[in-house]
Amino acid sequence: MNLLSLKGRTALITGAGQGVGAQVARHCAAHGARVVVNDFHAERAEAVAAGLRDEGAQATARTCDVTDYEAVSAMVTSAAEEFGPVDVLVNNAGNAGPSADPMAPAPPFWESEPADWKPWVDVNFYGVLNASRACVPAMVERGHGRVITVISDAARVGDAQLAVYGGAKAGAAGFSRGLARAVGRHGITVNCVALSAVRTPGVATAVEDASLVKAMLRQYSIRRLGEPDDAANLVLFLASDAATWITGQTYPVNGGFAVST
Ligand SMILES: NC(=O)c1ccc[n+]([C@@H]2O[C@H](COP(=O)([O-])OP(=O)(O)OC[C@H]3O[C@@H](n4cnc5c(N)ncnc54)[C@H](O)[C@@H]3O)[C@@H](O)[C@H]2O)c1
Repeated sequence: MNLLSLKGRTALITGAGQGVGAQVARHCAAHGARVVVNDFHAERAEAVAAGLRDEGAQATARTCDVTDYEAVSAMVTSAAEEFGPVDVLVNNAGNAGPSADPMAPAPPFWESEPADWKPWVDVNFYGVLNASRACVPAMVERGHGRVITVISDAARVGDAQLAVYGGAKAGAAGFSRGLARAVGRHGITVNCVALSAVRTPGVATAVEDASLVKAMLRQYSIRRLGEPDDAANLVLFLASDAATWITGQTYPVNGGFAVST
């Protein structure tokens, strides 16, 4: 028996056009899921979905901005028409949104304006609410589901440069704990995976700066950056039948940065 099998399941991964989300999509497909690859950037989503189909998987691309509830709702409906209702939702879209560089120099919080906060809160908090709201009803109806949200150690321990981002991610984690309590009796689990520095295009500014990486890695027990695989392995586990009694939790994947009790 392969407990990690997702055969017969439909998985929707947001922000899966590159980085962690793309790797999660590959893992889900490799374990038999029908995969819906969402991204704001159509060409990224199409390329990942096409790559999965080339490997023999069932995969389809859906372009939409997860911060737009109506668009997310329409995406979930159209994905269900093609592949059946979503069994596994991975809320992965995040960072500073689809176009901004999360590592770009920014003013300290005390000099920032509300307009500076909005993109972070929109994608990292409302994006999670939007996709969860759109997917959970069909999970409740069928008595099975998985909601997995990718958050950040910035939510667990704080990051001086990324206070608003950390706050939005912490909000997503708090929401996930509440949702887990609300939907557990319907056979749905809800968990978060908290990442530290993972080598992806979205954070290239930081992870390609050798002196910055050297300084960062002094805080990591395992002295390397994370790879998308490190995150995707845990997401796959939480999505699978191996994790039916795990819910309402946040699991760090961080090479020993921010070790928890
Ligand atoms: N890479 C890291 O070091 C790191 C660390 C901690 C947490 N995270 C979190 O992990 C997740 C994945 O990060 P990554 O580094 O792989 O990201 P990335 O920026 O490389 O890729 C994210 C993808 O999401 C898409 N996206 C962004 N906003 C969107 C929106 N509103 N609607 C639809 N798609 C959208 C982007 O177009 C992009 O293709 C994010 O939630 C991020 O906050 C990453």
